[in-house]
Amino acid sequence: TKHLLGIKDLTTRDIELIFETADTFKDVLNRPIKKVPSLRDITIANIFFENSTRTRLSFELAQKRLSADTVNFAASSSSVSKGETLIDTVNNILSMKVDMVVMRHPYAGAGIFLSKHVNAQIVNAGDGAHEHPTQALLDAFSIREKYGEVRGKKIAIIGDVLHSRVALSNILCLQKLGAEVMVCGPSTLIPKYIGTLGVKIEHDLLKALNWCDVANMLRIQLERQDIKYFPSLREYSMMYGLNKQILNSLDKEITVMHPGPINRGVEITSDVADSKQSIILDQVENGVAIRMAVLYLLANQRNQ
Ligand code: CP
Repeated sequence: TKHLLGIKDLTTRDIELIFETADTFKDVLNRPIKKVPSLRDITIANIFFENSTRTRLSFELAQKRLSADTVNFAASSSSVSKGETLIDTVNNILSMKVDMVVMRHPYAGAGIFLSKHVNAQIVNAGDGAHEHPTQALLDAFSIREKYGEVRGKKIAIIGDVLHSRVALSNILCLQKLGAEVMVCGPSTLIPKYIGTLGVKIEHDLLKALNWCDVANMLRIQLERQDIKYFPSLREYSMMYGLNKQILNSLDKEITVMHPGPINRGVEITSDVADSKQSIILDQVENGVAIRMAVLYLLANQRNQ
């Protein structure tokens, strides 16, 4: 496809091709010279209307490793605060001869909207509580790296599914790769649409952990929550927080993931986040290779 707006638009073969390309780029990233000239004729604008550490730096590093020219735009320091619209903002950036736009935005569907109104390739770096496709790709790639394949693996996505864009993208990606997926959390944090996706739903943390091979612990999204519908943070961490005692009580060794940023002591304790069972920093490392693969494959689609 011309854009990467969501995992929804990718076939299983598209995802496998991204992984095979990321394998090659991961080798490149382990060499003394980590740079290839593949995108030296491409200019990419990273436009972030929401805060980010991992995704923004990971995309920028991926672009630099591919020799693309990059410009960075943070809405908070831009003329968006003077009332400029999304389309005007992006068209002004594109007038400066930009080929691709990587965008994070608080509204679901912002990337889809933009792709219909501007003449550039759009990569969704997270749109509201909708999709975060490169996060799901790097998560599934990390599971494949750990176990050799994703097919047949049992993945529990645990926590604030309601406000999460990581959850939907992960569910779609893992199902396309043949994994079994469960979501687990209090019913107030499990959205109704989840019931239509063919995933298991569990409200008991221990049952979910005993079922899964991999637990992907989601962050409680304090910035999106309406507090009156929530368990308090204390109640949440007592019922759904993963600590070392719980992990050690399971009769098998599961793998722990987290997309970051972590609320240490809420959804996961430090002794779990920093344990040998955690692949959290492997996820971050793999993010650069995955984003290199996505940008490289999209650039090859430009003139087709
Ligand atoms: N996982 C993730 O999207 O992190 P950031 O919000 O820091 O980009």
